[in-house]
Amino acid sequence: MDSSDGRRLSVSLVDVGDGHEAEFVKLSTHLEAILIRKEYGRIEMIRDEASPQRYYAVRYWTDATAAERCHRDPEVQALTAKLYQVARVTHVVNGVRRGLVAAARRAREHADAAFSHFKVGAALETGDGNVITGCNIENATYGLTICAERVAMFKALSEGHRVFTRIAIVADTESPTPPCGACRQILWEFGGNLEIELANLREAKGKHQLQNLLPLPFDARLL
Ligand code: THU
Repeated sequence: MDSSDGRRLSVSLVDVGDGHEAEFVKLSTHLEAILIRKEYGRIEMIRDEASPQRYYAVRYWTDATAAERCHRDPEVQALTAKLYQVARVTHVVNGVRRGLVAAARRAREHADAAFSHFKVGAALETGDGNVITGCNIENATYGLTICAERVAMFKALSEGHRVFTRIAIVADTESPTPPCGACRQILWEFGGNLEIELANLREAKGKHQLQNLLPLPFDARLL
């Protein structure tokens, strides 16, 4: 798997001391602001419903060097020292979250391509960071086949998503498999100028902007 196909993250278990909740929230909000301002990454705080003093702090790093720079940053060090006075931090796990292409590869496993034997997977990223996947589904009339990209887009729309950023498309081919004309139209109308990442089962096969794959599009603005 190519190394770009994943996001570095750290997960810490944080137990906030009695009576220090307000201070903890203030300090972690400040820390998050620094991470964003200095482009180190972002933090997501997940509160444990079963024990409300406990949080899982997930830090999504921009990349591995951003994580290192953040750990060396005196401003961050001063703030984390204060955080350690109000909370106990244990179980820090560093890892890689598999990315959009990996999700498309997994989705491809569900493809129903009994007639063409050409399996495709797609993973569509929404504006709020969700990933909605799709695979191609063929049927005995051939013509009612639906491509992976449109399955992903229709699933996403049916779940209420309306803002999209990227789509990854995966097939088991040496040359890249770009979206077909019908999919380009649907992706354009509902997703706008998406970034399109093409890959096979092993490696990335190129990035494109949808507007370059669909010049002079027809859409609702012309009606
Ligand atoms: N297919 C997709 O799902 N996406 C593409 O980008 C290209 C083609 C499907 C449709 C059909 O099930 C099979 O691949 C062969 O055309």
